[in-house]
Amino acid sequence: MTENEMTSNDSTEPTPTTETAASSPDPSGDPLIEQSIDVEGTGDTAGETGEPVIESRDLNVFYGETQALQGIDLAIPEKQVTAMIGPSGCGKSTFLRCINRMNDLIDAARVEGDLYFEGKNVYDADVDPVALRRRIGMVFQHPNPFPKSIYDNVAYGLRIQDQTEDIDEKVETALKRAALWDEVKDQLDKSALDLSGGQQQRLCIARAIAVDPDVILMDEPASALDPIATSKIEDLIEELAEEFTVVIVTHNMQQAARISDKTAVFLTGGELVEFDDTDKIFENPESQRVEDYITGKFG
Ligand SMILES: Nc1ncnc2c1ncn2[C@@H]1O[C@H](COP(=O)(O)OP(=O)(O)O)[C@@H](O)[C@H]1O
Ligand SMILES: [Mg+2]
Repeated sequence: MTENEMTSNDSTEPTPTTETAASSPDPSGDPLIEQSIDVEGTGDTAGETGEPVIESRDLNVFYGETQALQGIDLAIPEKQVTAMIGPSGCGKSTFLRCINRMNDLIDAARVEGDLYFEGKNVYDADVDPVALRRRIGMVFQHPNPFPKSIYDNVAYGLRIQDQTEDIDEKVETALKRAALWDEVKDQLDKSALDLSGGQQQRLCIARAIAVDPDVILMDEPASALDPIATSKIEDLIEELAEEFTVVIVTHNMQQAARISDKTAVFLTGGELVEFDDTDKIFENPESQRVEDYITGKFG
């Protein structure tokens, strides 16, 4: 993929002024999705860690004539970190965007096949994508805080849901969960844009988790950050998986090996070549192509 293509892909990411997964306006409501929204986080006790929470079946995605994903079958376990790796252009971001229907915002994109979230096909006509994105939040490669205060960034999603109670407490909790509280607690009124890149990315994570989603999708969340900020994000991701299902796209294989429980390897042409426990993928993959990719023979 050329730099231009990368840039044009990046332009599909929401800017602070457009709708984002963490900031969508209040939907009129899809009952099937709305009913089960658990704003207070009290319904998290059901289900063992590791049960599939997202499942794709024969998922195909096209941009115009170009097929970006080919018949993807993948079951993502609850409250674990699932990494998606593979060379540039192999469809990792496309798959991630299918999960919370962010591809809906790309005119050329067409999705065929099924994608289940908690047993419900997210492409069913009665699913409200805005409600879906509230339960499946997203964090992008380039931190995209709103040009507002630190506090208002985190409170944004709560206010949009018309939550008025305990906002201070919820903001504090989200900032603590995102490992940012100690650094910003005395400057909550300061502009988010004055934070460092690594802090901005942790703020975006705080904004995404403030509304208490079930799943957090992260598209190369550390690739624009320096090594120290990257290491903080990696530590944070492992902690987040105690409460949330995390799906992370990374082109950094060491990062996938360090932080993920499961790894999906996509290769050129939008094919899912292997999906297994991360240790198995990195130590003893079934596929020769995966072994070649992991040992750096191509990619
Ligand atoms: N908005 C888009 N319009 C047209 N083609 C796209 C768009 N986004 C991605 N593609 C194409 O789909 C394929 C997969 O892209 P992408 O999912 O971004 O891959 P990755 O994240 O693995 O680098 C590539 O061939 C890319 O050029
Ligand atoms: Mg990508």
